[in-house]
Amino acid sequence: ATRRHVNFVIDYVNVSRLCHNKSLIAVNGKFPGPTVRVTEGDHIIFNVTNLVEHNVTIHWHGVLQVLTNWVDGPEYITQCPIQPGRSFVSEFQIVEQRGTLFWHAHIQWLRATVHGAIVIQPRHKPSYIPSIKPSHEHIIILGEWWNADVGDVLQDALDIGRGYAIPDALTINGYPGALYNCSQHLTQRFRVTKGETYMLRLVNAALNFPLYFAIANHTLTVVEADAEYTQPLETDVVMLAPGQTNDILITANQPEGNYYMACSVFNPNSNIANVPHPNISATAVLTYSSSLASNISFSQLQLPSLPAFDDILYVANFTQSLRGYYAMNIPQEVHYDLLYTLSYSFLPCPTCQLPPYPGQRITTSINNETFVLPEISLLEAYYNHINGVYETDFPEKPPYEFNYTGIEASDIPTSNLGTKVTVLEFGKTVQIVFQNTHSLGYDLHPIHLHGQNFFLIGEGFGNYNASLHASSFNLRDPPFRNTVAVPSGGWAAIRFTTHNPGVWFMHCHFDLHSTWGMNTAFIVKNGQGKNETLPPPPANMPPC
Ligand code: C2O
Ligand code: CU
Repeated sequence: ATRRHVNFVIDYVNVSRLCHNKSLIAVNGKFPGPTVRVTEGDHIIFNVTNLVEHNVTIHWHGVLQVLTNWVDGPEYITQCPIQPGRSFVSEFQIVEQRGTLFWHAHIQWLRATVHGAIVIQPRHKPSYIPSIKPSHEHIIILGEWWNADVGDVLQDALDIGRGYAIPDALTINGYPGALYNCSQHLTQRFRVTKGETYMLRLVNAALNFPLYFAIANHTLTVVEADAEYTQPLETDVVMLAPGQTNDILITANQPEGNYYMACSVFNPNSNIANVPHPNISATAVLTYSSSLASNISFSQLQLPSLPAFDDILYVANFTQSLRGYYAMNIPQEVHYDLLYTLSYSFLPCPTCQLPPYPGQRITTSINNETFVLPEISLLEAYYNHINGVYETDFPEKPPYEFNYTGIEASDIPTSNLGTKVTVLEFGKTVQIVFQNTHSLGYDLHPIHLHGQNFFLIGEGFGNYNASLHASSFNLRDPPFRNTVAVPSGGWAAIRFTTHNPGVWFMHCHFDLHSTWGMNTAFIVKNGQGKNETLPPPPANMPPC
């Protein structure tokens, strides 16, 4: 295997957007951060140096970290943070994945500015669309711009227990684009040559928003999701939830000129009046090469047409149309059959006096458990048999049944605070049905699992009912993903096999929801065979 060195220096950088100057935390002086290019099978030596006055950890989102759980990155799950002035060198291999992923800070809300793309070239040439070979590629990172310090936004979310955490702009590769103040001259241009086909590597790095993406007059062909090939899916608009990635082919088959690309928010909270969200799109421009020398006349550009911000049916149709490319061996026998409800919930809060819930703070929960981060890493506690850090009785089912998708705010329970995990034997199959609830709103929840991909075998609206729905699971060509957008007002079913020992975080990839507690972790025990045991920690693990 090729040894590849990746060096990150975390430092402050001055950036100005929307006529607002700001010092933000970034990697190697770049916002968004550098693209990491690797080849499947590479052995990575990853050196992170922290030069800011803030603790840091970095997570390679979607990288499976086979037998390298210690360097996965989520704070207080697998490691303690890298403290100011320190560095951490980790080593791991890129195993059996190809496509686009992203790396990001995994501590508080630092990933707002500390993120970048990961491109994994296949070891053997791709064969996913034999007839089309993209000649070039462009990286497109969808994100957000905050005039405020995101640390303050996070603190508000915790102190007040409400608020929607709305950024000041959406961004494409860090730039809001022509529709925002002071942004037109910085609009990003992506160059194409007429007749050629391009691979767009798309990442949703936004903290709290699922996003639509489209390009005026151009059809998108999705060929990969979360670094696994999909059957080619032609569409005008894709929807990515935070944490999701897609590789998309486009052919420059339109008249020479400039074409808007745009992203906008998908927010299914249409039932709640006044839920704010940026109702303005981030834009960039696809420029055919002969138009490159000339200025763009923005007023003449047409925006691509994007679905309404609450178009639940569009999103359901899109996500259900996405199929895995390979016929995979979907495990038929289920050893752990879990039902997890995803909810808002309340905790008593004497200092929270805002209407309409005075004295209560909004939290989030899974099966009514609101996750609390421990003070040393769960992995360290597990590995060294340290008692009192976590409990192993995370509930397999919701504590009681109710009409999950018909619930009123008055039914919202008080949740239990705790650090509860689920212990799994090695080599077993886990099925989880995520049941969304309507408590306080129709949010979608992008649930992300660390350490292994899962098959997304079913989803639907309403309450999950095993006798009705289990027989319709797709065990033929489900997509193999790391993040599932659990539909608002519905459910999603996943299946995976435990073959990677260690402690694996699973959480909502909205930072707001994760901060409020929509998290849990799995402990996968060692297996019996060779290469089925978690090795000891690297010598230079960051101290707590
Ligand atoms: Cu993208 Cu737990 O992370
Ligand atoms: Cu969520």
